[in-house]
Amino acid sequence: MLIVGNQKTYLSKEAVLEFVSKIKDYRNNNVVICPSYLYIDLFCSNTDLIVGSQNVSEKEIFSMTGEITARQLSSMGIKYCIVGHSERREYLKENSDVFANKIKNLIDNNIIPIFCVGEKQTEKGNNLTKDVVGKQILEVLSNFASCDIKNIVIAYEPVWAIGTGLFPTNEEIIDVVNYIKDLISDKFGINLLVLYGGSVNKKNISLLNQISSIDGYLIGGASTKVDEFLYIVSECSK
Ligand code: PGA
Repeated sequence: MLIVGNQKTYLSKEAVLEFVSKIKDYRNNNVVICPSYLYIDLFCSNTDLIVGSQNVSEKEIFSMTGEITARQLSSMGIKYCIVGHSERREYLKENSDVFANKIKNLIDNNIIPIFCVGEKQTEKGNNLTKDVVGKQILEVLSNFASCDIKNIVIAYEPVWAIGTGLFPTNEEIIDVVNYIKDLISDKFGINLLVLYGGSVNKKNISLLNQISSIDGYLIGGASTKVDEFLYIVSECSK
């Protein structure tokens, strides 16, 4: 199981300091926290957690004002980086070309990309979930050789389930996760880890854990509260 916390832009400095002080002695090789860039060093310097990044620069060059490159992330000890999150697709209009460039930079710097895919509510309503998710995956992964693809983790996150408290049935998740695994195995001959993300919390984690094909979770809101996050982690280790 790989459990990744995506803290987005939720926390102020005070809240992060409190989070760090509560979790500073905790270490679990299956748990990754992705703080805001601003707080990466706080986590790296004051906790034993594996630290990931929520983003990386598309351009891997030395003078790129305001950006943070994969080389810099690597120099901070970052092991994972989220790419393709629906908020970046939606608000920043990032597309498959951008994601492929980011993933290339990450792989070149030995950082594991967590590549997010997922359908919008209307796409689900029109029975297009697999078409959308399949296209998102193939457009990006086709840029890479199998030896690079094997370093990527996929996160299936239905857009309508992110931050809404709504989530698919276990049957729906199983159907899409199996589709993703079969697609990647058929096209590239590789078995990748597939995480689920979207309103994972302490109330639904035991139900989600009944799905054996899920390899872990990408957790947003619930990763900002130490007690809830560690409760979810402990449920996953049962
Ligand atoms: P959520 O966010 O757990 O708050 O729904 C998940 C995500 O955006 O990765």
